[in-house]
Amino acid sequence: MASAWPQRFGHGVAVRTISMAALVELMVLAASAVGATGLFSNDTPVSTPSIFTPASTPAFAIRHLSYFVLGICAVIFIVVSGLLTYCIIRFRRRPGDEGREPPQVYGSNQIELAWTVVPVLIVVIMFLATARYIFGIQRLPPSPSGLQATIIGNQWWWEIRYPDLGIVTANELHVPVSDPANPMPIFLTLQSADVIHSFWVPQLAGKMDVIPNKTNHVWFDAQTPGLYVGQCAEYCGVQHAGMLLRVVVHPRDEFAQWVAAQQAPAVDDPGVRGGRELFQSLACINCHTVRGTPANGLFGPDLTHLMSRATLAAGVVRNTPENLRAWIDHPDTLKPGALMPAMKLSPRDLDQLVAYLLTLH
Ligand code: CUA
Repeated sequence: MASAWPQRFGHGVAVRTISMAALVELMVLAASAVGATGLFSNDTPVSTPSIFTPASTPAFAIRHLSYFVLGICAVIFIVVSGLLTYCIIRFRRRPGDEGREPPQVYGSNQIELAWTVVPVLIVVIMFLATARYIFGIQRLPPSPSGLQATIIGNQWWWEIRYPDLGIVTANELHVPVSDPANPMPIFLTLQSADVIHSFWVPQLAGKMDVIPNKTNHVWFDAQTPGLYVGQCAEYCGVQHAGMLLRVVVHPRDEFAQWVAAQQAPAVDDPGVRGGRELFQSLACINCHTVRGTPANGLFGPDLTHLMSRATLAAGVVRNTPENLRAWIDHPDTLKPGALMPAMKLSPRDLDQLVAYLLTLH
């Protein structure tokens, strides 16, 4: 017994101390998860995305399944920790035990069968329940009234295309609300431009991998207007954590207004001609598109309506003039590893360029 733990405490104290520490840590984690608000809590309050506050049919189903699995796990936890606590107290070391060993028991077919068969049955039950929910969610036939969008994962941002509406945007998926009387499901086609990403907006749908050379699909019907945040859920490189996604669910008329605004051509403000000409003379146009201008690059986000978006750099900072300027000047300061190069412009050119971009509402 060459243990550093003082003999007089016995092992029960060690086990209790470790259990208490784990419990306290779990409670702190749970409290911070419940109390936390998302990025930019100073404007629109964004609650931490949680599978326990669903807002669409697949997410409600996932919450239901989660309760079922959590319930089974809670029973297992209570039984195991109860038995453990009982054994620690009942069979703890007592005065006079020195030099004596407890009875040594080898092999019991009943016990070994029980602790093999019962867990296998539990796993089979959870597997069957999960499979039933997955097939149930996937079986829903695409409704002719639904909205189609294509989401393309890029290192480290999301391209969003509405092929039927002629809209291309980035990092903000706008959809109309769906109510039971007038359903409006959203059908997403998921593709990747580079590596494996994963689309995950916990309150709307389950995770779905976004895989190069393979097209995946996911659907949801958002039932409450509001902002739902999500993020890439598959490690995809240095800025995996900076690959955030916002889903804005609009009332129907508001969504129609958003569509009309996005379909409009880029604002052509004569007051920022200098900035526009500068933009078109730089490498910007090799990667970015501003519809109706010579800028037709496809590598980076479409900038036709850049200022309609709430964030820059896929949700990493708010889309303010200061952040926009800092982003163009040196993307690495806001998002280390970002694939956009620093443009190395003079302060005057930078001002002109930002002034032009700020008109792209
Ligand atoms: Cu994209 Cu992680």
